[in-house]
Amino acid sequence: MNLRRFSFLAILILLLAFGHESNAQLSPDYYSATCPDAATIVRNVLARTLQSYPRMGASLVRLHFHDCFVQEKGSISNARSSRGFNVVDNMKAAVERYCPGVVSCADILAIASEAAVSMAGGPSWDVQLGRRDRRVANITKANMRIPRGSESLQSIITKFAVFGLTLTDVVALSGAHTFGKGRCLIIRDRLYNFKGTGKPDPTLSLVRLKTLRKTCSVQGALANLDPVTNFKFDNQYYTNLQNGKGLFSSDQQLFSTNMASSVALVNRYSNNQTEFFVNFARSMIKMGNIMPLTGNRGEVRLNCRRVN
Ligand code: HEM
Ligand SMILES: *[C@@H]1O[C@H](CO)[C@@H](O)[C@H](O)[C@H]1NC(C)=O
Ligand SMILES: *[C@@H]1O[C@H](CO)[C@@H](O)[C@H](O)[C@H]1NC(C)=O
Repeated sequence: MNLRRFSFLAILILLLAFGHESNAQLSPDYYSATCPDAATIVRNVLARTLQSYPRMGASLVRLHFHDCFVQEKGSISNARSSRGFNVVDNMKAAVERYCPGVVSCADILAIASEAAVSMAGGPSWDVQLGRRDRRVANITKANMRIPRGSESLQSIITKFAVFGLTLTDVVALSGAHTFGKGRCLIIRDRLYNFKGTGKPDPTLSLVRLKTLRKTCSVQGALANLDPVTNFKFDNQYYTNLQNGKGLFSSDQQLFSTNMASSVALVNRYSNNQTEFFVNFARSMIKMGNIMPLTGNRGEVRLNCRRVN
C-alpha cells in the first residue's frame, strides 16, 4: 500500500473512531459483550449488604444523585454525610474480578441505585450504561451544584434546570426521600427557631414536630426521611407532605407552597403510586444522562475513591 493511500485510510479510521466516540450514547447493553454479569454481581453485593445494613440502598441512591450532579466524589457535602463508599468498593472489587478495568464507578452507582429502589419495593427500569469516570474533582463546583435541605424551591428548581431537569423531575426525584435518613442538625432551626422567628416551622405538623424534637434531642441523631414506611420505596413520601411530615423544608415546600404546579404533582403522586413509579423511573434515567463522559473521555477508575 502506498503512503498516500495509507494516510487516507488512517485518517478515515481515526475519523470513524472519534466521530463515533463523540456521539457515543449510553445504552442498557453497553457491557453485554465485555461484562455481561456486571449488574448481577452488583445486585448480589447489594442484597448481601442490605441484610446487615438496610439503610444502605438509600445511601447508594443518594451517592448516585450526587455523582450525576457533580460527577466527582470528593465533594465536601459528600464527605461529611455520605455513606456507602465501602459498599461501592466491594461492588467494584467483585466486578473487577470478572472483568478487570471495564466497568466504571459511575455505572456501578447507576446499577446499584436501580437495584436499591427495586429491592425496596419501588420501580425497575433499564439502566443506561457506558459512562466513564472523571479525571478531575472540583470541590467548589460540587458544593455549588448540590442542593441543601434548607434551600428554597425556586433555587432547587434552578439547580435542576441547569441540567435540563424540570419541576416534574424535581418532584418525582425528591420521592427518593421515601427511604433513608437525614442528620438532625440540618433541621434544628425547623424545630426551634425557623428563619429567626423563635418558633418552629409552621408547615411542620405538631405530631411530627413533637417526635422529631424527641428523636433529635440526642447529639448526632438521625431522623427518618419517611416516618411511616422508612425502609419501603413507595409513595408515602407525598402523603407525608400532605400531612406536614416532610423532614427537610426542601421536602415540605413541594406541598406547602403557592406554586400550584408543584402541589398538583404531590397530590397526583400521593393518589397514584403507579404514576409516581413511572415518572420516578423516567426522571432517574434523565438524571443519569446528565453530561456523562463517554467514548474515550475520562477513564474507568480502578479505585472508585481516586483517579487512576
Ligand atoms: C431536591 C433537592 C434535594 C435536596 C435539597 C436533598 C437533600 C438531602 C439531605 C440534606 C439529605 C440528608 C443528608 C445528611 O444527613 O447529611 C438527603 C438524604 C437523601 N437524599 Fe436527598 N436531596 C435532594 C434530592 C435528592 C434526589 C434527587 C435523590 C435521589 C434520586 C435523593 C436521595 C436521597 C436519599 C436516598 C437520602 C437518604 C440517604 C441515606 O439514608 O444515607 N435526594 N437529601
Ligand atoms: C472550580 O469551580 C469553580 C466554580 O465553578 C471555579 O471558579 C474554579 O475556577 C474551579 N477550579 C478549578 C481548579 O477548576
Ligand atoms: C395511575 O397512573 C397510571 C400511570 O400513569 C395510569 O395508567 C392509571 O390510569 C392511573 N390510575 C388512576 C386511578 O388514575
